[in-house]
Amino acid sequence: MNEDLQKRIQAALANPQNMGELANADAIGTVGNSDCGEMLRMWVKFKQQDGKRVIDRATFQSFGCETAIAVASLATELIRGKTAEEALALKPEELAGELGPLPPMKIHCSQLVEGALRSALSPQAETCVKPTESSQSPATSTAPTLLDSFSKPKEGGVKIQFLD
Ligand code: FES
Repeated sequence: MNEDLQKRIQAALANPQNMGELANADAIGTVGNSDCGEMLRMWVKFKQQDGKRVIDRATFQSFGCETAIAVASLATELIRGKTAEEALALKPEELAGELGPLPPMKIHCSQLVEGALRSALSPQAETCVKPTESSQSPATSTAPTLLDSFSKPKEGGVKIQFLD
């Protein structure tokens, strides 16, 4: 990876945007493979603006590499104010924004972000279970986290134990 790109990634990582679970999200998308450790989940919340349903906010959690985190940070900013269709029309290289072109070995990092976005915005996307009045506050959303995904053993997979 060239030095310029490395610097841009480090700059994005120095001030990552929109990291963490989004309480009361309208949609969630998860991609990756917990068996190999690369995984990204995106939460999306919509709002009505000028008669259109646009993305109000998007957040993410990642067990991917620094590039995936940098791209997710930039992409979640980039898709704000866009309709789902406009966001889905963005290519992985556009989602990487100011990082610029990624080397071949890093293209799948932005594809991970694109995949999470597609997963969230596709009609079959996983949706949040909205807390009921009697259940939880927005701060304790019932949406499963990446940690849940890694902790739950999958059929034929491995259970990852985190060290203290
Ligand atoms: Fe696998 Fe970046 S997400 S190397």
